[in-house]
Amino acid sequence: MLRTKTCGELRIDDCNSKVTLCGWVQKVRDLGSMTFIDLRDRYGITQLVCNVDTDKNLYEQSKTLSREYVLQVTGTVRERSNKNKNIPTGDIEIEVSQINVLNTAKLPPFTIEDNTDGGDELRMKYRYLDLRRPVIRKNLEQRHRLAQLIRNYLSDENFLEIETPFLIRSTPEGARDFVVPSRMNPNQFYALPQSPQQYKQLLMVSGFDRYFQIVKCFRDEDLRADRQPEFTQIDCEMSFVEQEDVLNMFEGLIKHLFEKEKGITFDKFPRMTWQDAMKYYGSDKPDLRFDMKFTELNDVAKGKGFSVFDDAELVVGICAKGCAGYTRKQLDALTEFVKRPQVGAKGLVYIKYNEDGTFKSSIDKFYSQEDLMKFADKFGADKGDLMLVMSGKTMQVRTQLCALRLEMGTQLNLRDPFNYAVTWVTDFPLLEWNEEDQRFYAMHHPFTAPNPEDYPEMLDKDPGKVRAWAYDLVINGTEVGGGSVRIHNRDMQMRMFEALGFTKEAALAQFGFLMGAFEYGAPPHAGLAFGFDRLCAIFAGADSIRDFIAFPKNNSGRDLMSDSPNYIDQKQLDELYLSLVPVEKQ
Ligand code: AMO
Repeated sequence: MLRTKTCGELRIDDCNSKVTLCGWVQKVRDLGSMTFIDLRDRYGITQLVCNVDTDKNLYEQSKTLSREYVLQVTGTVRERSNKNKNIPTGDIEIEVSQINVLNTAKLPPFTIEDNTDGGDELRMKYRYLDLRRPVIRKNLEQRHRLAQLIRNYLSDENFLEIETPFLIRSTPEGARDFVVPSRMNPNQFYALPQSPQQYKQLLMVSGFDRYFQIVKCFRDEDLRADRQPEFTQIDCEMSFVEQEDVLNMFEGLIKHLFEKEKGITFDKFPRMTWQDAMKYYGSDKPDLRFDMKFTELNDVAKGKGFSVFDDAELVVGICAKGCAGYTRKQLDALTEFVKRPQVGAKGLVYIKYNEDGTFKSSIDKFYSQEDLMKFADKFGADKGDLMLVMSGKTMQVRTQLCALRLEMGTQLNLRDPFNYAVTWVTDFPLLEWNEEDQRFYAMHHPFTAPNPEDYPEMLDKDPGKVRAWAYDLVINGTEVGGGSVRIHNRDMQMRMFEALGFTKEAALAQFGFLMGAFEYGAPPHAGLAFGFDRLCAIFAGADSIRDFIAFPKNNSGRDLMSDSPNYIDQKQLDELYLSLVPVEKQ
């Protein structure tokens, strides 16, 4: 070993011992007759001192050091006269007797500190330097701890970690695949898995009973703060279980993680049907850190001559407690907020329930004080509250009001990232109609079982109304996991493909191996997958998953550090039977 101690472990009890440390120079301060150097490694920072009176040559050498040089330093631990209470090693310093420069360093393009002066692009380009910053390092340390906890917990519950292939067959359902050309099979392509879904089901057919994998998944979709093109799932599957068993097993896992990592305990996780989530929160991933439930207002809003409400399918609103004092400017800003293209509403109606018991609204022309009292009753509003009302097509207006509700939650500081509100959302619809393609898509995936109460009658009559045995786990408005009970019967699986518009031949061509497996004794099975990056971000109170992944991509799917994706040689293209198309012709 090049060192005897790390930069994070020396304490007052170590005084007078001789030590050798290795690390990076965080900072050098020259006070004229002595230099102070902060030496940093993964474990912490230790202060080094070189004194001109003790060793002139060493003092001169220390002045030549600069940020991010790599040093091996030997010296004696001394008590500091000026203690630093902010760091664990703050009581001591090292009186240096020898400095060995292991490597020099160019001046880094941004400061290696938690509050760095580097912008996103720069940090991504020099990610290996960015990863030296303690905040990011801590994120990856937490990720490691969580992975260990998950492995141990699931292993104790008899789950086997089994790897599934990364080069698989492309399937048309779901997001877009990343594809990989095959040199040995001209003009044929593998796809990278969007998830190991079919393989884990096959493992159940093989009798493995309980499977898990902490596994990379790949999806070529539009990126956002909580989406990366390659991300990690905690992927799980169980045999001989029902929905209830899966929910209980993985509720146990999540509670275990919260308890061990954060010391937080939970009662039983609440459950909400998809129908209720949409009706009361306008989202299948409701943020339950705050209440502000939707109130539907058709019966009090319609028939008073206000055509915007009269013509709408749904009039619905939220009540912001204690916000009747909102100024004209604040209300205008809220209206602007809902009119932004991302939200897409035409407008916003407000009703203030003043402290003196009167109402002031943007619809005073159409509604009397008595009429507005009826709104207030519906909302359960008190004096001093502000009611915000929107109208339109049911699903559209719910989504728009959801955006407003979240904005109000943010404005009123009701969305503390460390106040964890967890819920299961159940009873998702099995199918989702796509206007553009004029066909149904599986809301979860095509292997999800319909609720037997709704099957088979409704699959023929009104497929859009069939409920699935599918569930999501939502924490603070983020979908951290989802899964379902699977179809394990060949005929039902074929019916499902038919409902999705596949011919028998096309279904067999695409999914024949799974359908074939169902003919050889497939057990009832169910499972789910958590987004591991999202879980890590939530545990650290962050919105973006980027800093919980060592080497992430930017929002255009690029790795700025290695400059990838990139062109390949003509020779490589030839081997793969590929030719490039000029971009303008694409
Ligand atoms: P699903 O598609 O819901 O289910 O994915 C499971 C979880 O993975 C996370 N996730 C992502 N995280 C980061 N970036 C992405 N691009 C991304 N996409 C998804 C989410 C999500 O809840 N095979 C099924 C699971 C099953 O049925 O067992 C599946 O993949 O947190």
